[in-house]
Amino acid sequence: MKIFLLSLIYKTVRFTTTRIIYFFQKLFFMKKDLEPAVKIGDSALSSLQIIGSIVYDFHIPSGNDIEVFDLKFPSPLLGASFKADTKILDIWLRMGLGGVIFKTIMKEKRQGNKKPRLQDAFVNNNYGLYNSLGLPGIGIKEFASYLEKSPLWDFKRPLGVSIGGDSEEEYLLNINFLDPYLQKINKQYFYELNISCPNTVNGQTICENPQALENLLKKIRGNNSTTLCVKISPDISNKKLVEIANVCESFDKVIINAGNTQFKKPVFVGVNLSDFSMPGGGLSGTPIFERTLEMVQLLSNMKIPIMATGGISTINHVELLKESGASLFGMASSLVLDPYCIPKIHSTL
Ligand SMILES: Cc1cc2nc3c(=O)[nH]c(=O)nc-3n(C[C@H](O)[C@H](O)[C@H](O)COP(=O)(O)O)c2cc1C
Repeated sequence: MKIFLLSLIYKTVRFTTTRIIYFFQKLFFMKKDLEPAVKIGDSALSSLQIIGSIVYDFHIPSGNDIEVFDLKFPSPLLGASFKADTKILDIWLRMGLGGVIFKTIMKEKRQGNKKPRLQDAFVNNNYGLYNSLGLPGIGIKEFASYLEKSPLWDFKRPLGVSIGGDSEEEYLLNINFLDPYLQKINKQYFYELNISCPNTVNGQTICENPQALENLLKKIRGNNSTTLCVKISPDISNKKLVEIANVCESFDKVIINAGNTQFKKPVFVGVNLSDFSMPGGGLSGTPIFERTLEMVQLLSNMKIPIMATGGISTINHVELLKESGASLFGMASSLVLDPYCIPKIHSTL
């Protein structure tokens, strides 16, 4: 009862705040932009610290823990890579995520694409998000000291570090730079290789090119045995998907993460061209669930742990994916739209 009430309050406040912001954006002839609403929502959620334990703390029911290689997740629900804000990640872990993956980090500090770059999306009456943030981030050096000081390690749950790169060298450099810091912290961690992000100049080509992935994995494995997760795009063909998974299967301690946002033109998701700074972007949330399920089904016979990411928000989604062979479930859009989906799923898992 408490979960459903808090969920209703959260969704109502979020809906109202967003509409008020849109109203003022229109009034002042500004472009429609969802990013300020997300920022206000994040600050509002973090400001409830005084009554924190009532609204944030939810128990993870026992029997939901899962071990993947050397990682022990108390719940199979994970925060997908898309947020860097410690306060928000902390809240979602308190709500019951079994682990989180930090937002993709690149070598250099980046501002990302011009705004507006985040909007609501509507596809066949299903609501989702549409973004082309362009991987804004603080760069690997600052990120290393941020990781070192992160209070999130106190949860003793696996934390994933999503690595991006414009080239093979950049992926290797980022991992080699971070690894000494992570070894010193000496807690459970893994790397996720974001080879599917449509925002990098060359990053996409690794997802399209199994040989390039094999070369990269060989080089990483030359001096590093940390568990790796390879995040693939739902936009690649099924044939390529199987080839990529075959490469992953041939290495030790590799998880495959199917998948990421789906590349779409603004018109497809109900966004005006003038309200989006880029000619295309990534669709996420419920509208992409079917493709996530299809990818998991395609990989189900392979001897490799599968994480499913894309459109997951209900117990029904989790059960369908589990039946098809996924053992971990990454969530992004649903955490923004209603983070109480975490305890809701746990209550029926
Ligand atoms: C605003 C936003 C930013 C994202 N940033 C990243 C990122 O930095 N790295 C990454 O691998 N995926 C990123 N993603 C993709 C998510 O991790 C996830 O794969 C995708 O949104 C599909 O999951 P969902 O339907 O649960 O949102 C981002 C998604 C959103 C909505």
